[in-house]
Parts: sequence; C-alpha cells; structure tokens
Amino acid sequence: MITRLPDATRRQVLEGSSALTLALLAGAPAEARNPAASAPAAADASVRVPMALRINSRAVSVSLDPRTTLLDALRNEIGLTGSKKGCDHGQCGACTVLVNGRRINACLALAIMHQGDEITTIEGLAQGDALHPMQAAFVAHDGFQCGYCTPGQICSAVAMLEETRAGWPSHASSDVAAASFSLNDAEIRERMSGNLCRCAAYPNIVAAIRDVAERG
Ligand code: FES
Ligand code: FES
Repeated sequence: MITRLPDATRRQVLEGSSALTLALLAGAPAEARNPAASAPAAADASVRVPMALRINSRAVSVSLDPRTTLLDALRNEIGLTGSKKGCDHGQCGACTVLVNGRRINACLALAIMHQGDEITTIEGLAQGDALHPMQAAFVAHDGFQCGYCTPGQICSAVAMLEETRAGWPSHASSDVAAASFSLNDAEIRERMSGNLCRCAAYPNIVAAIRDVAERG
C-alpha cells in the first residue's frame, strides 16, 4: 500500500536532501563539484578547414569542421539534400553517392577524405531535363512509394551495373570466375542488398534495374 505524504512534508524532504547535497559538495574536491574542471579540453567545434571538393562536375569550396561527414557536408553545408540520412550508420544505403564512379555510404565518409575526387549525387545524374536512364526506369516501373530511399537506390544501381559490366561477381553468382554475369533477379537483389526500402518497393525496384540492364 502506498501512503501519499502531504505536500509540506514532501517539500521539506526535498529541501533537506538539497541542503545535504550542497553540504557534501562544499567539502568535495573541485573536480567533483564541476567535472568539466578536470576534463581535457573538448575539441573546438568552431574550427573549420577550407576544403576543395568536386561535386557533380563542379568545383565546390567550403570550410568545414574536419569531422564533418560527406553526407552532412552535402546536405547541411552545400545544399544538396537529395542524398538522404536514414540510419547514419552505414546500414540502410539512403546516403549512397558515387565517388569516382564507385558507390559509397556518404554517412561513413569524411568530406575531407574526398578532396579531389569526383563526387556524384542524385542531383548530378540527369543531363539537364533528361533523366538518367535509371531515374526514368524507376519512374516507369513505379520503383518507389515514399521515395526516401530512392536517391540512394538509384545511385547504387548505376554503380552496380558498372560493377557487373566490369566482371565483379556477387554472392549470388553461380560461377565467381565467370567473365560476365547476367543480371537475373537474384543477382540484382544480392547486389542491391545494401539499400533498404522501408516501403518494400523491392519488386518494382528490381524490375526497373533489370529493364536498364537488359537495354545495355
Ligand atoms: Fe548512410 Fe544509412 S544513412 S547507410
Ligand atoms: Fe519508401 Fe523506399 S520508397 S523507403
């Protein structure tokens, strides 16, 4: 059975415990009263370093905290918000961009590591008003629902086709030593397994990628 104390009594208890705490801290060493007093100086978050990036065939100069991820640089500093932040831990693929033609998770890369590299985001795939064939195929096959994963899916698919053309096997390849691979659905699903879709638009995503692959 729980007995409720009258308000005045509870207030007295709280006042008493506060007074006791202050008394104990008055006799405690400085670092116990203020842990920051003995902590090593925190990294200065205001330090920014000039960086020269190349994004979607354009030179981009920015000053960033050297700890800034490529994803945060793109979205928060450069204004390219097409690349999405899903997990921020390299698990969902929503942040996939191309670096020198290869797909990477931008949330796991520091921007400063990619000075001089050719970075391509979803904003850089179209040629003016003409969609990239992979973008057009996603539209034609309805390869999305909410669309949050879609920029990462498309960038990943573009690089995945190049990996396949270059003869890179996957875990779904029956002969890993083969010179070329036909992209059946199992191959596509395996090769795209780093890109998750919470709307489960997978059948249409696979159909879109197969379409582009079959057209060469
Ligand atoms: Fe980068 Fe999920 S946000 S993998
Ligand atoms: Fe919604 Fe893929 S379309 S997460």
